[in-house]
Amino acid sequence: MSDGLAFPLLAGRVAVITGGAQGLGAGTAEVLAGQGARVFLLDLQEGRAQELAAQLPGDGHAGLRCDVTNADERSRAIQRVHEAAGRIDILVNNAGVQFHSRAEEIEDEKWYWLMEINVHAVLFMSRDVGRMMLRQGRGSIINIGSIASVLSMPRRTPYVTAKTAILGLTRTLAVEWASRGVRVNAVCPGYHETPLLMEHIDRGTLDGNRILKRIPMGRLGTIEDVGKAVLFFASDLSDYVTGQHLLVDGGYTAFGAPEDAS
Ligand SMILES: NC(=O)c1ccc[n+]([C@@H]2O[C@H](COP(=O)([O-])OP(=O)(O)OC[C@H]3O[C@@H](n4cnc5c(N)ncnc54)[C@H](O)[C@@H]3O)[C@@H](O)[C@H]2O)c1
Repeated sequence: MSDGLAFPLLAGRVAVITGGAQGLGAGTAEVLAGQGARVFLLDLQEGRAQELAAQLPGDGHAGLRCDVTNADERSRAIQRVHEAAGRIDILVNNAGVQFHSRAEEIEDEKWYWLMEINVHAVLFMSRDVGRMMLRQGRGSIINIGSIASVLSMPRRTPYVTAKTAILGLTRTLAVEWASRGVRVNAVCPGYHETPLLMEHIDRGTLDGNRILKRIPMGRLGTIEDVGKAVLFFASDLSDYVTGQHLLVDGGYTAFGAPEDAS
């Protein structure tokens, strides 16, 4: 391999993953821990985060209660990670929510709720952990966007708006912090096998068969598919990459013909 790369790729690194108790956050935790990172899962579901942390490969992982929209809970959780591990090398802003509504029927409260989690908390977590990373002179922040960061989707105005904002946030922080050793990138998943997606398919708000026909690779992504892309940005594999986004979508956004992908 090229000069300067040591394996496992994240040996000695400390990673914080928001919304890490299930879904893509859990898959990412598995991949990062598998490459030697010590992982802290910050989630509303403290018990579930703790259970998952106990099952990850390696030692020292923990699940912590943290509502990313609550300033006190954010600073308490960051403080606890700092006391336990002394540093944070990797922050994955993964916690996110979604709801469907026709644009003309969007309720104010639901718009603000989604923005709080999907946009504001990403900035606040990045700012607070970013300060620590800037002091360290090293860090990698990975924001979880979506194919909705680059595509429009009917009945998802709040989600599309939030996930598009994530790319602007990513690029701006990246440029501001580039010379001080902190990189900021985004991973934009397509359709992956997670509770969030399965819930929509079960409720009938999404049609699973139509989604599959629209994915050139012909399958949903796994949670580890996202974790592997996060690993690229978290590790020194991407040490000259900042301000970028990577679509992990089985070819979904590359596909523009009107017929089925097959
Ligand atoms: N599932 C997909 O196919 C898909 C596709 C594109 C993008 N995404 C994005 O990936 C991320 C993860 O999605 P997922 O499908 O794994 O979701 P999920 O609903 O399965 O898991 C989200 C996790 O975030 C936690 N969470 C929610 N609100 C929180 C808060 N205020 N504070 C702390 N934790 C909170 C939940 O408890 C849960 O553990 C989201 O940002 C989502 O928008 C998912």
